[in-house]
Amino acid sequence: MPPEMLSGEGGAIRLCEHLEPRAPTHVPTLRYAIEAAGQTVGEVRVRLGDSDDLKRHFGQIGYEVYPAYRGRGHASLACQLALTVMRDLGYGEAWITCNPENLASRRVCDKAGAELVEIIDIPVEHVMYEHGIRQKCRYRIVL
Ligand SMILES: CC(C)(COP(=O)(O)OP(=O)(O)OC[C@H]1O[C@@H](n2cnc3c(N)ncnc32)[C@H](O)[C@@H]1OP(=O)(O)O)[C@@H](O)C(=O)NCCC(=O)NCCS
Repeated sequence: MPPEMLSGEGGAIRLCEHLEPRAPTHVPTLRYAIEAAGQTVGEVRVRLGDSDDLKRHFGQIGYEVYPAYRGRGHASLACQLALTVMRDLGYGEAWITCNPENLASRRVCDKAGAELVEIIDIPVEHVMYEHGIRQKCRYRIVL
């Protein structure tokens, strides 16, 4: 069972939903709210599975902090706590992907101790390509 709540300095993540597999990732997903000072400031998702498509394109962890709350370390903490969720679930590694121009997200990965393994081109037939995404940075973290 995944942890319901994990906390760290300045915030916490709380499990709000188990999402059934659906497009575009087609994997079960744990949706956690990112909370700080009694407010929900964003969300972090743990996508369950280790398919090539997940590890190569979508990534196993995705995060978003609402614009008003950015720049305060919430994504960095949430990412670290999501890695703890994966470790608790028995994963030995985690893959996070982000667009090369998304410097804030890349920094979140760096701060989590992730290694930039490669920057890949998105295949033209992939759903991400239809959405205008041409490349992804692939970060790996040993748990
Ligand atoms: C990416 C995102 C989650 C970061 O959230 P956040 O809570 O502001 O992140 P943090 O406060 O933890 O900051 C992360 C680091 O990025 C740095 N950073 C922020 N904006 C930056 C920029 N434009 N260029 C370079 N670094 C930047 C911060 O300074 C911080 O590094 P530091 O601690 O060394 O100073 C947020 O911008 C967001 O929700 N964006 C839209 C959704 C998204 O892109 N999600 C990621 C998909 S892969």
